[in-house]
Amino acid sequence: MSKRTADLLHSLVPWSYGFRSRVAWYVGDRRAHPELMAWYPRERLLDPIASLDMCTPLERAWSARYATTDYAAEGEIVELGAWLGGITLSLVRALPGNPAWAASPRTVHVYDEFLHDRQRERLERSPLEHDYVERGSFVHHFERRLEPYADRITLHVGDVTDAVWTGGGIELLFNDLSKSWPIWNAVRSTFYRSLVPMVSTVVEQDFAHSWTPWLHLWHYRARHHFRFIEHVPGGGSVVFRLERELTPELLAPDAFEDYEEAEVEAAFRWAESLVGGYLRGNVAGAQVVVNMFNDELGRATEVLARALAAATPDAASHSELLSDVVPELARRLEERTASAAAPPDQAGDEPVPAAAPAQVGEPPGGDPPDAPLVPCDLESIQRDLESWSGRPSLLATAVDGTITTIDAAPAWSQWLQPDQWVGGSLGHIDAALAEKLPDGRWVGSVARDDGAAELVILLGSAGAGRRVRMVIVPSEADDEAQTILIASPDLDPPA
Ligand SMILES: C[S@@+](CC[C@H](N)C(=O)[O-])C[C@H]1O[C@@H](n2cnc3c(N)ncnc32)[C@H](O)[C@@H]1O
Repeated sequence: MSKRTADLLHSLVPWSYGFRSRVAWYVGDRRAHPELMAWYPRERLLDPIASLDMCTPLERAWSARYATTDYAAEGEIVELGAWLGGITLSLVRALPGNPAWAASPRTVHVYDEFLHDRQRERLERSPLEHDYVERGSFVHHFERRLEPYADRITLHVGDVTDAVWTGGGIELLFNDLSKSWPIWNAVRSTFYRSLVPMVSTVVEQDFAHSWTPWLHLWHYRARHHFRFIEHVPGGGSVVFRLERELTPELLAPDAFEDYEEAEVEAAFRWAESLVGGYLRGNVAGAQVVVNMFNDELGRATEVLARALAAATPDAASHSELLSDVVPELARRLEERTASAAAPPDQAGDEPVPAAAPAQVGEPPGGDPPDAPLVPCDLESIQRDLESWSGRPSLLATAVDGTITTIDAAPAWSQWLQPDQWVGGSLGHIDAALAEKLPDGRWVGSVARDDGAAELVILLGSAGAGRRVRMVIVPSEADDEAQTILIASPDLDPPA
């Protein structure tokens, strides 16, 4: 459909925007989750604004079910981050069906600054396109949509970090705005202190996502205070019930530095276990992101290599791990490499203390250690790669970056031949890949404990990306020689 036809259609039939996709969601959800269909927001089929909701229809159905059957009206309902009010709408429409609420009606407290923030692309050709102004208010869209239920809502417009909560015990806290560590700290200190044991339910809408790692770390630390209730199918929301009062330590601000490596590791494995399906890949991505935010790009790449190795094919191809986290890490690595390579006067006022592109056979990020911490064990590296990829890996030897022998040459033989130059540094490998595989790019490198270097390469577009791991083992006998192992679960060996 051309843009003109689409525009004409929208002007004649206002609800046509996103209609096909809303129907597709409905059909898919009805088939997969009949248990939530009694609360499904069917009115969204005729509501073009619903195509812009960020929560899924099943998260809206979950909210309506909670408001009807679980809410005991012993405390307040607080929604943090309403956007255009999709969740709000489901809550306020459902409440009158709940006898406890009907006996003592309360309003839903909604917090949002309602300011457009870099969503121009998202709103293109939508009913909101024409009044989009960066940092302009969109509260009127929320108010118009929720107008029939205005008496069931108390609206708090403004930056949540300035909010004060004096409303007493909170029974439902729906958190969908803790998008940065400072906001999360503020939200905890303002609202989480009013959670009541055995009464409060908390929905962490950003839990099955990669960009909010503070949630995983904190909830792991607070896990003995909450009972995990469920992961709302297919969405980001994970639901907890508070069972033990939160301590002052848990309500105090925290930071990444407060978490030891072992706790970080345990936290993300625990958080992954709470989430279903391919969305586990999002949580694995959050561990990469937390290192990336902390500017620990080497560690981030190492975590990424492990996450890719452990990901199910579904998680690898559908989660944010490949579609969002990998490109962002690649961008930051490239930026760092470029800034390290630039002459000092072009590198900016405060050059990032970055590693120069590593030489093949050297651990990236600096000089090779005098002696490997753990001796390289080729057989175990090969076993590891083969168990990851489920296919034979390529084993080649090289001298000074040029292939001399190839032991097992599956599909790779079309790319690697004896006498072929494979590059002497990560930058060269990147350039060689770009030339041979225009859609390929390297993601980054990992300095292994055994003195080898590992490259994680993603070929193709993020969604359908094919993963390749390449381990370069320096020879102990000959400074110039390396053994190169390459494996991929996504590329078939040749016939
Ligand atoms: C992901 S959206 C919420 C989506 C919504 N739950 C839905 O169902 O469509 C996050 C919201 O948080 C709001 N937000 C982000 N940072 C904020 C802040 N510091 N103070 C107030 N609101 C904020 C944004 O304006 C945005 O509407």
